[in-house]
Parts: sequence; C-alpha cells; structure tokens
Amino acid sequence: MTVSVFIGTSLDGFIARPNGDLDWLPAGGGEPHGYNEFIASVDALVIGRKTFEKVLTFEAWPYGDKRVVVLSSRPVDLSAAGGGVVEQMAGPPAEIVSQLAASGAHHLYVDGGITIQRFLQAGLIQRLIITRVPVLIGDGVPLFGTLPRDVRLRHVATRHYPSGLVQSEYRVADNGMSDGS
Ligand SMILES: NC(=O)c1ccc[n+]([C@@H]2O[C@H](COP(=O)([O-])OP(=O)(O)OC[C@H]3O[C@@H](n4cnc5c(N)ncnc54)[C@H](OP(=O)(O)O)[C@@H]3O)[C@@H](O)[C@H]2O)c1
Repeated sequence: MTVSVFIGTSLDGFIARPNGDLDWLPAGGGEPHGYNEFIASVDALVIGRKTFEKVLTFEAWPYGDKRVVVLSSRPVDLSAAGGGVVEQMAGPPAEIVSQLAASGAHHLYVDGGITIQRFLQAGLIQRLIITRVPVLIGDGVPLFGTLPRDVRLRHVATRHYPSGLVQSEYRVADNGMSDGS
C-alpha cells in the first residue's frame, strides 16, 4: 500500500483561509500540474469531513466514480455527494489503511489538513506532492502540525510552472517509527 498526499498550499503553508475559503487558489485548479495523472493512479481517496463539506459546495462532484472514503466520528449525510461512490469510516488511521488494503486498494490519496496530520503522526504517509501557490494569505488552515517525532524526507523533484506554481515531491525516508511502534 502506498499512501500519498497531493495538495496545494499558499507559500506561507495554508490550505484554506480560516473560514475554509479557497479563493486564493488558481481558478479551475490552475494550469496542468500533474493532478489528473496523480488522481488516475489512486484507488481511493480518504478525505476529512471538513474537506467533504467543502467539496459539496463545488458546482459538481469532482471525483467522478473514484472511491471516496469520508472520515468522521459522527454520522455524515453521504447522499449529498450525488452520484459519487462514497462511504464513511472512522478510527485510527492504521485501521483505515488496513481495511482499505483488505478491500483491494493499493494507492490511497489522503486529503484534508487534520486528516493528513493524523496519518503523518501515525507514520502512514509515504509520498508528499506539495504545490505552492505564489501567494501569502497570512492565516488559515495549516497543512502541517505537531508530530511525535521528526519525519525525514527524501526530495524527489521540484518542478515549476509558468504561472508561478512550484511543486515539490518527497518520499518519506524515515517516519521515525523504525522501532516498530
Ligand atoms: N488546498 C488544498 O489543496 C486543499 C485540499 C484539501 C482540503 N482543503 C481545505 O482544507 C479545509 C479542511 O481541512 P481541515 O484540516 O479543516 O479538516 P479535514 O482534515 O478535512 O477534516 C477533519 C475532520 O475529519 C474527521 N477525521 C479525520 N481523521 C479522522 C479519523 N481517523 N477518524 C474519524 N474522523 C476523522 C474529523 O471529523 P469529525 O469532527 O466529524 O469527527 C475531523 O474533524 C477545507 O477548507 C478544505 O477546503 C484544501
């Protein structure tokens, strides 16, 4: 199982304004920067409840018939996703990954700030692709948060695009859990 993050951030490290607004992101996702190729490679998305609620405000469900797992500790109305293939799970990230592996998934796309942070804390992310948008927004929902130990990364590549997007790809070299915990 490979668990990846593919996310856009402001240069100052936020993934949304404090109220969840994404108006600072390039319209329509911006120029092509690998998202379509990435999403085609994943078997399932694992998104936090807050990201799910934000996605429901978009004009159309953006994930087509891709399997989407919404994480929440409370009941969520999945019918709002229209024709999407959506299910709900909750619990420790390791159990979620195990369940999805048992159901045949090989590549997961984890999205949402808190959700990514919980998967990182659990040592479950292998790959990070972070696209920095050339804007400072000063405050907002952070991509990263506290960690129980350092997570060492291996830089794979940095790509830049004419509009100013700068995308860096990392592999997790050492998630600090080599003691088996
Ligand atoms: N810039 C980008 O590319 C990008 C990408 C994704 C999202 N965003 C933005 O980021 C914001 C959302 O991020 P966020 O950090 O606020 O929240 P989030 O990660 O989307 O959602 C957090 C919620 O997910 C649930 N959750 C997470 N892990 C769980 C687990 N293991 N078990 C059960 N429930 C779990 C909890 O829901 P309950 O409280 O219901 O239990 C938690 O409060 C939105 O504004 C979204 O638009 C931006």
